Amino acid sequence: MTSTSYITTPIYYVNDKPHIGHAYSTLAADVLARWRRLEGKEVFFLTGTDEHGQKVQKAAADAGMDPQAFTDQVSGTFRALSQDMGYSITDFIRTTEPRHKRACQVLWEKLAANGEIYLGHYEGWYAVRDEAFYGPDELTERDGVKYAPSGAPVEWVREPSYFFRLSAWQDRLLAYYEANPDFILPASRRNEVIAFVKSGLGDLSISRTSFTWGVKVPGDEAHVMYVWLDALTNYITAAGYPDDPEAFAKWWPAELHIVGKDILRFHAIYWPAFLMAAGLPVPKRVFAHGWWTVEGQKISKSLGNAIDPRGLVEEFGLDPVRYFLLREVPFGQDGDFSRAALVNRLNGELANALGNLANRTLSLIQRNCGGILPAIAVTTAADSAIVEFAASLPTEVGDHINVQAFHLALEAVFQAVRDANAYITVQAPWALKKTDPERMAVVLRVLHDALRVYATVLQPFMPDTMAKLLAQLGVPEEARGLDHLATPLPAGLPLPVPEPLFKKVEAAA
Ligand code: MSP
Repeated sequence: MTSTSYITTPIYYVNDKPHIGHAYSTLAADVLARWRRLEGKEVFFLTGTDEHGQKVQKAAADAGMDPQAFTDQVSGTFRALSQDMGYSITDFIRTTEPRHKRACQVLWEKLAANGEIYLGHYEGWYAVRDEAFYGPDELTERDGVKYAPSGAPVEWVREPSYFFRLSAWQDRLLAYYEANPDFILPASRRNEVIAFVKSGLGDLSISRTSFTWGVKVPGDEAHVMYVWLDALTNYITAAGYPDDPEAFAKWWPAELHIVGKDILRFHAIYWPAFLMAAGLPVPKRVFAHGWWTVEGQKISKSLGNAIDPRGLVEEFGLDPVRYFLLREVPFGQDGDFSRAALVNRLNGELANALGNLANRTLSLIQRNCGGILPAIAVTTAADSAIVEFAASLPTEVGDHINVQAFHLALEAVFQAVRDANAYITVQAPWALKKTDPERMAVVLRVLHDALRVYATVLQPFMPDTMAKLLAQLGVPEEARGLDHLATPLPAGLPLPVPEPLFKKVEAAA
């Protein structure tokens, strides 16, 4: 296994305020980044904003602002989101930065030098909302307006354009997918991409002349680069391309690009084709997650139902929101956000199951053991079952996280928590103080050790709350990695007075 990991999120269009859909892409990447650090790896975790193109230029014009001032402002709200959601990013890229324009131009020149680009004329349908070209057979018509499959209206575009010889890459892309079965996940999406590529790839228009808000094409400044070529390049810009070859060699190819299902084609077809055409390595994986609806409805500006992640965090706390988004829906599938479901998970799984287990165990150690950690002494089959399940968790959780099955990782931990709750109920250590204090100490130590494992593996999901729990368990800050689990805490360790980890909320009437 390599000792470094480079993980990316999509870079967000600055035409809109962040909502939970945006928060979700970065959250998943954050959990993976934090898990890799727990494993002891050095991580580069990138997010940022996609600031060029017709859509952003229009949004700036609608706001009556200069595009640069506009993008400065909206980019700031995405940066603030990273703070609000506790994302452990190591870089935030903006496509209007000089380092990025340079990377785009160098990549363009490389593609041109390799004979992959030619000048022609584009004539066809374009959806500004998707910043994508569509063939006539992909469109539907309502009231005289034509729409892309995404629901975005399309317009007819006719202008000189540079083209990338995408058609020449069809077979090599298919061979790449074949040789790298985990390059596109989930598998169902991979099959969709393969079917699309097999149906035939045309050359791709990669420059525009009818507007100016973009990276200029080197040597032909009447053209700006197609915003997707510009945007995808961000992943190599941040890794050091082209001026820092040492950094680039260290980080590239990325371990994972996390993207939404709507932008998989760009990442799984165009991006590897551009990279191969430029002689650069292809990322190891692209994972496409599903889309959130809100209380059964599509998130849309006109419905005004976009949920501001910051409001949710203020109401429920950061960690319950992080937990909910990754627990509620199998990663890769679509899901529905509902307050009732969030309240249920918070009250049931976090406050009742995990919170109470921790609080009961630690309060009993305070009250009945003088706040001192008892010695390890596993005696019964019931004890061993809890200990063994806990010991197997890091590997099990890691296996799920390695394939981005975050929901299964959480399910595994909460299965263990449920078992531990059943164990504490049956063992009833609170009743043993007078009758069998030795047995009581054994039960509490078993639970303490199990909680240490649960808290350790849950850190990437709920970093603040698990930091509190680990502190209450007496685990020093520098001993919270996966490796440290092999070293038991010493008997006799004084433990602080516990405090509740989660606040229950009233279910909505
Ligand atoms: N700028 C492009 C990405 C360029 S990456 C080189 C873009 N930006 S976006 O702001 O429109 O979307 C960014 C991410 O947010 C995408 O992964 C998209 O899937 C995700 N989501 C936007 N709405 C969403 C939901 N309702 N649900 C889940 N994710 C959604 O596309």
